[in-house]
Amino acid sequence: MPSSVTATTRVYGLIGHPVSHSFSPAMHNAAFQELGLDSIYGAFDVTPERLEEALRGVCGLNLGGLNVTVPHKSNVIPYLDNLDPLAETIGAVNTIVNQNGSLRGTSTDFAGFLRSLKENDVEPEGLEIVVLGAGGSARALLAGLADAKAKSIRVWNRTASRAHSLVEEIKPVFPNCMIEHIHSEGLNDLDCDLLVNTTSAGMQEQESPFDLNHANRIGHVADIIYNPPKTPLLKQAEQLGIPNHNGLGMLLYQGCESFTFWTGMEAPVEVMRQALVSQLN
Ligand code: ATR
Repeated sequence: MPSSVTATTRVYGLIGHPVSHSFSPAMHNAAFQELGLDSIYGAFDVTPERLEEALRGVCGLNLGGLNVTVPHKSNVIPYLDNLDPLAETIGAVNTIVNQNGSLRGTSTDFAGFLRSLKENDVEPEGLEIVVLGAGGSARALLAGLADAKAKSIRVWNRTASRAHSLVEEIKPVFPNCMIEHIHSEGLNDLDCDLLVNTTSAGMQEQESPFDLNHANRIGHVADIIYNPPKTPLLKQAEQLGIPNHNGLGMLLYQGCESFTFWTGMEAPVEVMRQALVSQLN
């Protein structure tokens, strides 16, 4: 954030409903300040019925760009002028840049997840992966992991029909990756290189989507939840000596990728990480 907001300050922001708990303003304003950019980032609570007006406002007010969160990630697409190919496959957008009145959408969620995996020495190429969940986050990670040349991806969801439809939709796009839906019995004696939790089970202290004691071998556990920092799933991984990490890295790096998409500049990662950590404390 600049020391003073003036008539030339470029405005960015987050749209979602609700947005009051978001850490993105703290993270992006810290980055703008660090690099001395005359830019500011706010949070806009936009209800679904106001979405179209909000998107028109980006051009009308000449904002720099937006992040998009729940429940608008798919619904913004009809109001954009163009999309990058992965966002098109995923059918969701979390970042919009205003290019002289033309709105371009991308999804930095997967790039953020990939950087968080790499930070933990996990490279998806050739891995056997299990994804828990079949919501919007699962869709982005499933397509991204297949695009990153995972060997196989099995998808489990509490509501089996959602996992089935997601798999049927994504499978034809990535013929070189074995993508299949598994039922709960398929989780018995689980053997995989990477287990990814995209479900919201674990946001409440006691809940876990899966008992790791039922697994035969799991190489690494990644949870996309960052608050609490250790979900019951990650605590159990810790107890069993399975390498693991939470969703803070994904949140950080999707923000870094969005920052670069808007500014063309490398994001100040450590400053942004500190801003997130101070929000959590
Ligand atoms: P997101 O966009 O974050 O993925 P979502 O689309 O609402 O959010 O999806 C939430 C996911 O968490 C779904 O896979 C949901 O399972 P259902 O399809 O059966 O609803 C899963 N989920 C939520 N609470 C859960 C719980 N207590 N146990 C297991 N899965 C849960």
